[in-house]
Parts: sequence; structure tokens; C-alpha cells
Amino acid sequence: MRPLILTVALAAGAAAFAGVAGSQEGINGDSQNSTQKSSAGQQVQNPYANMTPQQRAAATRTFLGLGVEPDKAAAERGAPLFSQNCSFCHGPQAHGATGPSLITSDVVLSDDHGEHLIPFLRKGRPEKGMPAFATMTDDQLRDISEFIHLQVEAVANRGTYHVLNILVGDAEKGKAYVADHCMACHTTETFAHIGSKFRSPDQLQRGWIWPSRPADNALAITATVKTPDGGTIAGRVREVSDFRIAVIDSAGQTHVIDRQPGVDVEMKDPLAAHQALIMTLKNDDMHNVSAYLETLK
Ligand code: HEC
Ligand code: HEC
Repeated sequence: MRPLILTVALAAGAAAFAGVAGSQEGINGDSQNSTQKSSAGQQVQNPYANMTPQQRAAATRTFLGLGVEPDKAAAERGAPLFSQNCSFCHGPQAHGATGPSLITSDVVLSDDHGEHLIPFLRKGRPEKGMPAFATMTDDQLRDISEFIHLQVEAVANRGTYHVLNILVGDAEKGKAYVADHCMACHTTETFAHIGSKFRSPDQLQRGWIWPSRPADNALAITATVKTPDGGTIAGRVREVSDFRIAVIDSAGQTHVIDRQPGVDVEMKDPLAAHQALIMTLKNDDMHNVSAYLETLK
């Protein structure tokens, strides 16, 4: 359980941390500068001076009472999922846009590793504009949860987490991984010049992990709904929850169906296999593949 007083801790922490950050500038890892003049003129030992960056981060998170540490590998897998499904409303770093900021959300702060967030995200609050993510797997929702926790951490424990350099991978290993795992569905055509198609390595990584669904709907999630009276409604899924599904048929008409007993819903996601594959990706594979694809200019 994360402390619910975090909002207060954040404000206090920001002030306290400003002091830490200020002194970090001087020390930056070398011990010569490990003492500093206080305002009174005496030499004071800086408690952070002889720590590794990891130790400093841990000390700061203890000081701020940040609770359990986010799982960074999971958060990295969750980043493209968040970007695709949530950032439109909550902003790219969960700081809020048309939807609220998630940094100070009670649902987020009371959660450690998805135990509250996953059930919340499955249901959403459709009546308030927060869609239900009923078709995502627990693993995907857990990764998204870790991504959000990492954003909270980044705000609270400033300077702890640097933007990951995703090109730390080994391009040769990435090439081998692609040959083994991607060519069942793709040809070299898919990847030709892919390194120049995206504006940054970061976007390239998002692009191949979580291909965007083009506006032509070729990759849209579709559903076939059988109703108790024997009817069938098929089309593109606009919204779905445990209770209700909204489908747009080929004529462009929206049908909202209550998922009562006797209603049978079968959904098809053209990218389902892609997502399944991605969930098995290890962090190293992910970095290696990105490093390789980046070379295909
Ligand atoms: C279409 C816009 C939209 C999308 C997409 C969306 N949200 Fe929301 N979300 C909202 C709105 C609006 C609220 C506020 C609902 C309310 O007032 O209770 C909300 C509330 C939340 C809350 C609860 C905040 C609180 O403490 O009350 C969480 C957590 C959340 N969203 C996470 C997510 C995640 C994670 C995703 C992606 C998987 C996502 N949302 C996608 C609009 C959206
Ligand atoms: C089970 C089949 C399957 C596997 C395996 C697979 N993909 Fe895909 N991938 C798809 C489908 C389907 C699409 C969407 C249609 C399209 O754009 O080709 C897609 C789209 C993409 C796109 C977007 C292409 C574009 O033109 O926008 C990239 C990039 C991509 N995949 C990369 C990969 C990489 C890298 C791997 C291996 C790590 C991989 N895929 C493995 C099925 C697969």
C-alpha cells in the first residue's frame, strides 16, 4: 500500500529534494567535493556524497516514503501500451490532458503492482468518459500500471530515472531475433528503411512493438454478437466492458448491446498474435530489436 499522504509528501519532498539536487551538482560522484560549505561557513559532510547513483535514488525514495519500487522492465513494456491507449486522454506522461492527471490519483497511489489498477481498468468508468479496457490481458494491464507508477516516481523522485537510451541493444542479436521471431508474418519489405520512418528511436520502438491501427480500419478490432432472439450483429468494436458492447456495423450504424445471459460476443483483433508475441519479449530482446531496426535506414 502506498501512503495516501503522498500528495503532501510530494510537496514537502520537492522542497527537500531541491536541496539534495543542488548538492548533487557539486558532488556528482567524485569524492573530492564530498564536503561543502554550509551557510555558517563550516564544512559539512554530504550524506549522499559517497553513494552510488542507485544508493542515492534508494535513499531518496525512502525519504519520500514512495512505497514499493516500480518494475522498470514491465514499465518499459507498458510504455507503448499507455501511449496507444491512454495518452490521448491522460497525456504522454500521465500528467493529464482531457482526462485527469494520474500522478496524484488515489487509484494509482493506493496500488502497488496492479492489484487495484487492473480491476479498475477492466471496468473503467464509462459513464464518466473513462473507457473499460476489458479485452486487455492482465499482463498488459499490469505493465501499464507499472508504467504509471514509474511516472509517479519520476515526478516524486526527480533525477532518479533518466530517459532510457533505448539504443543500448546489440544490433546483431536483434537481427537474429527478428529472423527467428518476426519473419513468419513479415517480409524484409516490412522492415526496409524502417529506421528512417520514425522521428526518434523511441518512436521506432513504440512503432514496432505496438503498430498503430491505421484510419482505414484494416486492423480494427471487430466483433460478432449473437443476441438471444437469434440475430447477429457484426462490426467494428467502439467500446466494450463486462456489461455492454458497442459495435459499428458496415452501414456505419452503432449498436449498443447489453451483455446479458444469452448474448454471445466473439471478438477478433488482427494484432492479437502480435501482442501475444510482444508479451513474451524480454527487455534485452526489445533493445536488441530496436537497435537493429534503427540501422535499417
Ligand atoms: C477517452 C479518454 C480516456 C482514455 C482513452 C483513458 N482514460 Fe482514464 N480517465 C478518463 C476520464 C475522463 C477519467 C475521470 C473519470 C472520473 O471522473 O471518474 C479517467 C480516470 C482514470 C483513472 C482514475 C483516476 C482517479 O483517481 O479518479 C485512472 C487510474 C485512469 N483513468 C487510467 C487510465 C489508463 C491506464 C488508460 C489506458 C489504458 C486510460 N485511463 C484511458 C479518460 C480516459
Ligand atoms: C503472428 C504474426 C506476426 C508476428 C510474429 C510479428 N508481427 Fe508485426 N505485424 C503483424 C500484423 C498483422 C501487423 C499489421 C499489418 C501490417 O502492417 O503488416 C504487423 C505490423 C508490424 C509493424 C508495422 C508495419 C507497418 O508497416 O506499419 C511492424 C514494424 C512490425 N509488425 C514489427 C514486428 C517485429 C519487429 C516482429 C518480431 C519481433 C513482428 N512484427 C512479429 C503480425 C506479426
